[in-house]
Amino acid sequence: MLGTGEEGVLLREKGLDVPLPDGRLAYFNYYWLKDNEPASFDPETRERVNDIFALAEEPKAQTAAIAGDHLEIQWQGAEHRSAIPMAQLVQYAKAQQRPDPANLPRKSWFADHYANMARFEYGSVASDADARKTWAGAMLTDGVSLITGMPNTDAGLTDLAGLLGYVRPSYFGHTFEVKTHIKPTNLAFTSKALPLHTDLPSEEFAPGIQYLHCRANSVEGGDSIFVDGLAVAEDFRAAYPDDFKLLVETDIPYYCEHDTFDMRARQHVIELDDYGNISGVTISQHHEDIFDLPQEALDAYYPAFCRFGRMMRDEKYVMRFRLNAGECIVFDNHRIVHGRVAYSATSGERHLRGCYTDRGELRSTYRILSGEGRFK
Ligand SMILES: [Fe+2]
Repeated sequence: MLGTGEEGVLLREKGLDVPLPDGRLAYFNYYWLKDNEPASFDPETRERVNDIFALAEEPKAQTAAIAGDHLEIQWQGAEHRSAIPMAQLVQYAKAQQRPDPANLPRKSWFADHYANMARFEYGSVASDADARKTWAGAMLTDGVSLITGMPNTDAGLTDLAGLLGYVRPSYFGHTFEVKTHIKPTNLAFTSKALPLHTDLPSEEFAPGIQYLHCRANSVEGGDSIFVDGLAVAEDFRAAYPDDFKLLVETDIPYYCEHDTFDMRARQHVIELDDYGNISGVTISQHHEDIFDLPQEALDAYYPAFCRFGRMMRDEKYVMRFRLNAGECIVFDNHRIVHGRVAYSATSGERHLRGCYTDRGELRSTYRILSGEGRFK
């Protein structure tokens, strides 16, 4: 059944056509109109209160017309009249993802990044919302930043992390201590070289943002090595497109097993975001489980995997620096690959205290500090 509303609104069987201010005619489904009108949301909780499942019959417009800057709909068999802002209809007419202020373009970086790394004073990000927004923005674009002037306390680390999200525990607890342990459960807890890796890929959702607060570093050696996995993956995609596809599409097993835990998860080495852009990598040779893929598939997978791993070690990408007491390096654990060279455990003290927050909360923090949102 077709019907013509006032102001050129055309009623159809399942929805209606609305002439937009720019002259386009846009189609909207009746369920969508009913479910997403302003009255479907509670202004206090800001949550949807409309129960679309409770509709006894498919919603249909009795009449519909543009009145000022709203589309007004009188529903069949219902008292309720909807008023939907034309601005909302314009925004959703193209079926594009909702714009996100936290979707900042990522900027890949290379070996010489240390001098340009985003740096912030602890006191500044702790007390100043603008500084905190700049810091969160740097984490979204660069994936790494250095906080200086850290308090030499246990709380310093978790207070800092609390500025970008809630500390989320791992199977090592809420925080972890990177120093030589007597009975180590992880290569990081020794003085040996720690090859480039991302943390804890054996967790179903590997930690998002990592914080390493340097409390002491007076040993010989132990310099940090950091690589932007995004920079490597972008070059890898250009040079070896077939290999790139394999590393995006193939899940490989990871594990971490000791006396009291037996973590297992599958991950793909290169990660794309909802927009198809490279958003990260997962690499950890010491936590790779025995590959259980079909052996024939490994004929192509292993060479691609090794090509990527070798490319990652190219000096073009490797940022080398010394983390100093009073500094905290903060980085996206799904993008930035990190490690350290060996050190002499008897030459002094080396102690990093670490924790994690999640990437989603970083984006949430950035959106809030940007002052954007649907309920502003
Ligand atoms: Fe690590």
